[in-house]
Amino acid sequence: ADHAAFDLKAHIRAIPDFPKPGILFYDISTLLRHGPAWKAAMAEMAARVMPYRPTLLAGIESRGFLLAAPLALELGLGFIMLRKPRKLPGPVIGFDYALEYGSDRLEMQADAVKPGDRVVVLDDLLATGGTLAASVELLRKGGAEVPLVATMVELTFLNGRSRLDVPVETLAAYDA
Ligand code: PRP
Ligand code: MG
Repeated sequence: ADHAAFDLKAHIRAIPDFPKPGILFYDISTLLRHGPAWKAAMAEMAARVMPYRPTLLAGIESRGFLLAAPLALELGLGFIMLRKPRKLPGPVIGFDYALEYGSDRLEMQADAVKPGDRVVVLDDLLATGGTLAASVELLRKGGAEVPLVATMVELTFLNGRSRLDVPVETLAAYDA
C-alpha cells in the first residue's frame, strides 16, 4: 500500500510492431535503467510475493532472471533457473509445451527442487500464459509446490490467467 503512489506504467515503454507487425511490445528496459523506479518495483514485488511463504524463487530465461534473482537475494531465498533447452549441465528435467506455431520446452536441473519446496515463479510478462503454465508443470514434475506465479506486466486481453491453476500477481495490467 505504501508503494501505491509509484506509477510503474510511467516507466514501461510500449514499442509498436515488435517483434512482428501489429504487436505492441511492452518494454521493461526503461524501468531497469532507472534506479529508483527499479527499486520501487522490486519492493512492490517483494510485498506481493512474501505472503505466499516461498522457500525458493524460480526465474524463466531470460527476462524472468532479471526479477527472480534480485528478489531472491533481497528476501534471503535461493534462486533456480528454468532455461531454454540444452543450456544446463548434468541431468535435467524438461517440460514441452505447444505454441501457436510449433512447440517449446523449459528445463531445470534434476536436483533443483525437492518435495516440500514452495517455489514462486517470476517472469517479466504474462501474455498467453503458455510459458508460466509450463513452468508450473515442470516444477511439479520435480516434486515442488508452486503457490504463486508473478510478473511485472500482464496482457489481460490474452487471458493468460485462464491457463494457470495457481494464484497470479501482476504489477501492471494492459487491456490492449
Ligand atoms: C516472453 C516473455 C515471457 C513469455 C510470455 O519471453 O519474457 O517469458 O514470452 O509469453 P506467453 O505468456 O505467451 O508464454 P521470450 O520467449 O520472448 O524470451 P526472453 O524472455 O528470453 O526475451
Ligand atoms: Mg521470457
